[in-house]
Amino acid sequence: MTRHVTAYRSAILHSIADPAEVGIEQSYQYLEDGLLVVEDGRVKALGDANALLPSLAADVEVLEYRDALITPGFIDTHIHFPQTGMIASYGEQLLDWLNTYTFPTEKQFADKAHAADVAGIFIKELLRNGTTTALVFGTVHKESVDAFFEAAHALDLRMIAGKVLMDRNAPDYLTDTAESGYADSKELIERWHGKGRLHYAVTPRFAPTSTPEQLELAGKLYGEYPGLYMHTHLSENRKEIEWVKELFPARKGYLDVYDHYKLIGERSVFAHGVHLCDDECKRLAETGSAVAFCPTSNLFLGSGLFDLEKLEAHGVRVGLGTDVGAGTSFSQLQSLNEAYKVMQLQGKKLDPFKSLYLATLGGARALYLDDRIGNFQTGKDADFVVLDYKATPLLDYRMQQARSLPEKLFALTILGDDRTVKETFAAGRSVHQRD
Ligand code: GUN
Ligand code: ZN
Repeated sequence: MTRHVTAYRSAILHSIADPAEVGIEQSYQYLEDGLLVVEDGRVKALGDANALLPSLAADVEVLEYRDALITPGFIDTHIHFPQTGMIASYGEQLLDWLNTYTFPTEKQFADKAHAADVAGIFIKELLRNGTTTALVFGTVHKESVDAFFEAAHALDLRMIAGKVLMDRNAPDYLTDTAESGYADSKELIERWHGKGRLHYAVTPRFAPTSTPEQLELAGKLYGEYPGLYMHTHLSENRKEIEWVKELFPARKGYLDVYDHYKLIGERSVFAHGVHLCDDECKRLAETGSAVAFCPTSNLFLGSGLFDLEKLEAHGVRVGLGTDVGAGTSFSQLQSLNEAYKVMQLQGKKLDPFKSLYLATLGGARALYLDDRIGNFQTGKDADFVVLDYKATPLLDYRMQQARSLPEKLFALTILGDDRTVKETFAAGRSVHQRD
C-alpha cells in the first residue's frame, strides 16, 4: 500500500504540558522554521525544517506558509449546533433566554432536512474558525444528532455529540420521556459511537429539565458503553442554582444531583461551573470530571465570572467552550480574548501560553482525547490550523511591532477571529481554505 506523505513548512507552535504544572517555558515547543510531516492523516514527524527536509523522500510535497503560524486545531468543549441561527439574541439571562429564544428555535429540529441544513452551516463555521473537535449538544430529536454526525463523518472529523434528554419543565413539543430518551440515545450510540472519529455523549440538558427517573436512566446508560461521554450544564446562573435546590431538596447541592445519579466521572463535561463551592471543585477533581469555561457566554448572559485559578488549584480538568448560541463567537481566539478579560475583572492574568493550552491540549485532556489530539506528538491525528499574521491590516501592523513570541501569541488571541484562520486541516486533509 502506498503511503501518502505531505510536509508543512512554517513557524509551528504547540503545547506540550500545562503551564500550571511545568511553568510557562516548559509548556510549549516553538519552531521558527518548522516542518510538520503528515502521513496518512497522522503526525509522522515535527522538527526544524532544515534538519528534517533531507530525510524526506524526493516525491513528498512540501507546502510552505510565510507570515503564518501552524498550531493544533482548536478544541471546543461546549457548543450547541441547533443554536447557530439564534446567536446574538437580545436581552435575557439564562432561564428567560431559554424560554424566549432557545426552545422555539430547537423545535424546528424535528425536521431532519432543517437539521441537516443547520449541521452543514455549523460545521463550516467551526472549520472557518479553526475548530477541529467539539463537544456538541443536539436537540431532543434524534434526527438532529443523525444530521450532525452524518455531516461530521463525511469530513472524517473527530466530534462528540448527543441527543438532549429533557422530560420536564420544557414545552411539550420538546420533551421526551425517561424511557424514550434512554432508547433513542441507545439507538444513536449503536449507530455512531466509535464510527470513524465520532463519539457519543449522554446529554441531559441540565438538572431542572429532567425527572429523577430520567437522570437515573441517563446514569445507567453512561455506564453501559466504554468511552461514552456525559455532557450537561452546571452552576451557570444564580436563579438556576436556586431552582435546582427547590427541585432536588434532598441533594447537598447542584453537583450532588449529578453525582447521585452517577453522572460524574471520566469523560463527563460540565458547562460553566461559574458558581461552584470548594467541595464541588474537590468532587469534580477526584472523579476526573471536566468543566468547560465559556467566557463569551458567561458575559453575554450575565452569568458571572469563571474562577479558573480556583478550579485549577483543586486539580479540575478545564477546557474552553464557545457555548454558541449563548456564546457570541465560534472563534476560540475570541473566547480567549474574553477569557483574558474575565481574568482581568478578577485581578488575575491569563498568560498567552496558558491560553494556547486551554484551546488545544487542555481541551484534549478535559475530553480524555490527549492520546489522539491536542498537539503534534508523533502518531496523533493531523488536525491543525494555519494562522495568518497578515489576516487584517491591524493584525499585520501589530505583528510588525511585536518583539517576542509571547507578544505575538497574545495579540493573536486578542485580535484574532475567523479571518485569522487561513486554512484548517482534519486528519491531514484540508477542510477549509479562507481565500
Ligand atoms: N442551560 C440549560 N440549557 C442551556 C443552554 O442551551 N445554554 C446555556 N448556556 N445554558 C443552558
Ligand atoms: Zn450550553
